[in-house]
Amino acid sequence: MADFVPKTKEDEENELQRYKDLVSSFPKEEGWGFEKYICQYQGFWYVDKHCQAVLAVQDHFKARSSDIILATNPKSGATWIKALVFATVNRSNYSIDNHPLLSQNSHFLVPFLEISPYQNQIPDLEILPSPRLFATHISYNSLPQSMIDSSCRIVYLCRNPKDVFVSMWHFMNKMRERLSKPPLDVMKVFERFCNGVTHFGPFWDHVLGYWKASLERPQHVLFIKYEDFKADPGFHLKRLAQFMGYPFSYEEEKEGLVDEILRLCSFENMSSLEVNKTGEAPMGAFKNEAFFRKGKVGDWENYLTSVMIERLDQITEEKFHGYGLKL
Ligand code: A3P
Repeated sequence: MADFVPKTKEDEENELQRYKDLVSSFPKEEGWGFEKYICQYQGFWYVDKHCQAVLAVQDHFKARSSDIILATNPKSGATWIKALVFATVNRSNYSIDNHPLLSQNSHFLVPFLEISPYQNQIPDLEILPSPRLFATHISYNSLPQSMIDSSCRIVYLCRNPKDVFVSMWHFMNKMRERLSKPPLDVMKVFERFCNGVTHFGPFWDHVLGYWKASLERPQHVLFIKYEDFKADPGFHLKRLAQFMGYPFSYEEEKEGLVDEILRLCSFENMSSLEVNKTGEAPMGAFKNEAFFRKGKVGDWENYLTSVMIERLDQITEEKFHGYGLKL
């Protein structure tokens, strides 16, 4: 393991080439969106450029105890949790009516490690002030060792797989539309989802890794369900703030700050902002508006057949059996 930032451009290029060569030797399956194929590494599936970045994150990212890491399966609400965490942790730095979230998408403010900072480069993240906020889709078992060894906080947001599948299908189709590719055959990608061959999947293994970690290391890993957050956002935001070490004071609650943050980060507010209607996403290939579709619980009812529902429920039941987890 090389836990250093390469000193010269040549060192960096050599290191990146080494990752490319490694990734090209991994098992491959057909891709979903912009990519031809996805490849398998440590039991999970990645677009090759993300996989190269995962290797770089594993080798070079040095966690600090003050870091806050937001982990999700794709389409589980990262856009929302990033906004909530950014607004909560930085609440003494910005007023709500002149807030960075009003002019910048939350993916700019809290980058996915493997999608932006480590994409084709090995950045020096040591220069960033604490607390650093990062997001990731990397599975728990593949996180860099320093994240496990340090006492940094990891927040995992999980969502019902039926809504995740529907959201992902729409998202990938948006991306394909921009690339003039035909929409994905829903039955074909459903099969792949069920078999675990999805970006950063298998979905269920991803969830279980963080679920087990949250039971083993509850001071360091917080497991939250999108559906629970939707049902009682005030309670869950306060719990989240407490976990991160930024609890709301009695005065802040009385002044209505919790509600103000929830309003700022609400689907209705975020999706109506100009930056989120017309801005380009930092990861390329789509616009910010692709991150805002309906933001509802249970939209799967409008898309999945009874056979699909039964299949997903059965897999969820089997995979989570004995772990005390219900989605
Ligand atoms: P739907 O496609 O079901 O509407 P991610 O942010 O991980 O990419 O997940 C995207 C999903 O989160 C989309 O779900 C999107 O609409 C929803 N979402 C985005 N912003 C949200 C917000 N502020 N509150 C609740 N859900 C939000």
